[in-house]
Amino acid sequence: MTCPDTSFPGPAPEQETLFAAAAADYDRYRPGVPAAAVELLADALRGRRLAPVLLDLGTGTGQVPRALLPAVPGLAHIEAADVSRQMLEQARDALTPVLGRCTLRLVHASADAYAPLPGDEAPAPDLVTCCRSFHWMDGPAVLAVADRVASPDAAVAIMGGGSLWTHEAAWTRALRELIQHYLGPKRRAGTGAAYSEPRRSYEEDLAASAWSDVAEHRIPVVRTWAPKNVIGYVRSTSFAGPELFGQRHAAFEAEARTLLDAHASGGSLTENAVFTILLARRPGGAQ
Ligand SMILES: C[S@@+](CC[C@H](N)C(=O)[O-])C[C@H]1O[C@@H](n2cnc3c(N)ncnc32)[C@H](O)[C@@H]1O
Repeated sequence: MTCPDTSFPGPAPEQETLFAAAAADYDRYRPGVPAAAVELLADALRGRRLAPVLLDLGTGTGQVPRALLPAVPGLAHIEAADVSRQMLEQARDALTPVLGRCTLRLVHASADAYAPLPGDEAPAPDLVTCCRSFHWMDGPAVLAVADRVASPDAAVAIMGGGSLWTHEAAWTRALRELIQHYLGPKRRAGTGAAYSEPRRSYEEDLAASAWSDVAEHRIPVVRTWAPKNVIGYVRSTSFAGPELFGQRHAAFEAEARTLLDAHASGGSLTENAVFTILLARRPGGAQ
């Protein structure tokens, strides 16, 4: 295994291990960023500068940079930060072949501890993205970091498309109930803890930050799942990862597969999701 380019002391061990085991399944089974969302983000970058820079916080396996690289051919540099080394390794493997002339720095750090390289080597980001990751972070601290490091007319995008835990369809409800049957009624967040809802909404965090000029974009997405891919997705989650089930994991997966097959129509399951992007700027567009 190679290492990230930069590592900060900071990510707590439990933060790191929560996502470590999931990296390969995550990369394989998580839905990508919808095309309309990529277009919106690309518009936020295009025309701002000849050689725009992206900072992706909680990059995971690099899905956001991967989607943006072809959409923004002039993209000059990507800073990709995550608490999980395994996720960063997966991101490196996925991004390296498609970088072209764009440079990449992988930063092993909690988003609130992120810092750019000092001096001339530090390109100020024009877009800071948190995709399906902001709820894991100290929101106000992360927005303050973004304000410190981003270019004067930069944008921050906080986005996500829900999860199969929260989605309301007969098959997701049945799957959730099965998980609860095995793991108890509370939504889990890794082996250590129950999931707790964010204290404030993302909108409230943004309103209280330097990024208070916010536009919300809601993009309807219809996803079609094969039952075996739902099983792979579930394996990559913090609410039903294999480590939570111990020796009962094989039994859970067998029951889940039977349940999903029973709900599938023509071999597939439908998720009608909404991918939401909060695109935020500093009022007046200046620091
Ligand atoms: C659900 S994944 C999202 C990955 C990617 N952004 C995507 O949309 O596919 C959440 C990611 O956030 C990372 N993460 C969690 N807490 C973090 C923190 N405080 N700072 C940086 N990354 C964090 C996890 O390691 C994981 O890779």
